Amino acid sequence: TALPSALFSQSRSNLNELLIPELYVGDEGEESDGAMYRLRVAAGQRSFLPQLTTSTYGINGDYLGPTLLLKQGTNVAINVTNELDETTTLHWHGLHVPAAADGGPHQSIEPNQSWQADFEVKQAAGTFWYHSHMLGKTGEQVYRGLAGMIIIEDERSPQLGIPHRYGFDDIPLVIQDRRFNASGNFSYIRNHMDVMMGVQGDTMLVNGTYNPVFSPKTKKVRFRLLNGANARTFVLKFDDNREFELVSCDGSLLNTAVKQREVILSPSERADIVADFSDGNPVNLISEPLPADSPFAMRGMMGNMMGRRGPQSLQILALEPESLLENSEQVSASLGEIVRIQEDEADRVRQLRLSMTMGMRMGRRRRGGMGGGNFFINDETMQMDVINQRIPVGSTEIWEIENTSMMMHPFHIHHNQFQILSRNGRAPEAHEMGFKDTVKVGPDEVVRFIMRFENFSDSENPYMYHCHILEHEDDGMMGQFVVE
Ligand code: C2O
Ligand code: CU
Ligand code: CU
Repeated sequence: TALPSALFSQSRSNLNELLIPELYVGDEGEESDGAMYRLRVAAGQRSFLPQLTTSTYGINGDYLGPTLLLKQGTNVAINVTNELDETTTLHWHGLHVPAAADGGPHQSIEPNQSWQADFEVKQAAGTFWYHSHMLGKTGEQVYRGLAGMIIIEDERSPQLGIPHRYGFDDIPLVIQDRRFNASGNFSYIRNHMDVMMGVQGDTMLVNGTYNPVFSPKTKKVRFRLLNGANARTFVLKFDDNREFELVSCDGSLLNTAVKQREVILSPSERADIVADFSDGNPVNLISEPLPADSPFAMRGMMGNMMGRRGPQSLQILALEPESLLENSEQVSASLGEIVRIQEDEADRVRQLRLSMTMGMRMGRRRRGGMGGGNFFINDETMQMDVINQRIPVGSTEIWEIENTSMMMHPFHIHHNQFQILSRNGRAPEAHEMGFKDTVKVGPDEVVRFIMRFENFSDSENPYMYHCHILEHEDDGMMGQFVVE
């Protein structure tokens, strides 16, 4: 039996101080000319809920992992040791790295083995993350805790008036929903519905903290929002509807901050926001349900079913400013240096169609680790030995992602960041004008984006593209490409 909805007991009582993942700047590397990061993946235990202990996975700890701080222009080595009793991988989501260093399903690490990713940090400042990408097991391994944040810093970024003192006024928020069973353990896939909709929980964790509170010490705080959920989309806002400045989306700073009152993040999307607490008032960061008329809301029968569950706001983080707040700088008028890629620079257009069946195919076992699920890209499911696209290195391409299903799929591509060109023919809004690596594709939507496939020619090792609802990815909604 499930716990009586933990959701409703999350309130301003019994608050826990928000945990801040350790900032890992790397050890002096002997084997590499840059920083060396040592990550140990292991099982553990954590007491999230009062009086209950949960079996977890973690990286250098019992749940989630340290925040990796990488500096643009340096070479890094990340050494991963697997101390689990199952195979795993770690993927650097959003990083522009060689395919062999990407940490996808082909770079799996057997128990008691190590694997090392060596790469140059080529990108400008941004918020990224890392997580398990084990074929067919990504959802379960991430659910148990195999994820962490990555921050790339460059020379310009500390000079833009965006708070950047990690853990002080620059706060990572890994936002996840979880479902616990009565004994306190995570309750992962229970039925067919969990596969179809993705696993959604009624208990929020932020950086692995249940019912968290943070006390701003400065007038302005930057929050690095990461949707680290398996399947749930968050509509993040403050419960007094205060405005904030959105300064980045996924892989880069925006050219100018956008003033908003809410930001919608699907699984794996990031946004950095700067919020102002000078009024000293306590406030809550919450997530509201998607309105029924949102382009990302569920359609048809499923939509009605979801609707009948009633609108629920989720408490994410209580904010209780201290009585004396340190002054903060103004966010600069110009932030990123993004040059828009023009459509006529594209060498070709590729079309990908996302679809799903509503059939009961849960019982069907994967054949030798190959796909066989309910989710398709161009009518195919993920097969480890099939390269779905071959892309000439150095080319620029437009990808058109069409969603023919009844629900939104967050489409993610490895290798590089892209720029959104249009949604159903309409230009993207200001908050989507940066470099992105994941884009929400609503039911009946066609999203077009443009991307440069620069560097790292390798016809052997593929990159992935997939839906970032992890149960969909695990059930086949993934494909492979090589850049050669
Ligand atoms: Cu966040 Cu293919 O991954
Ligand atoms: Cu990725
Ligand atoms: Cu999906």
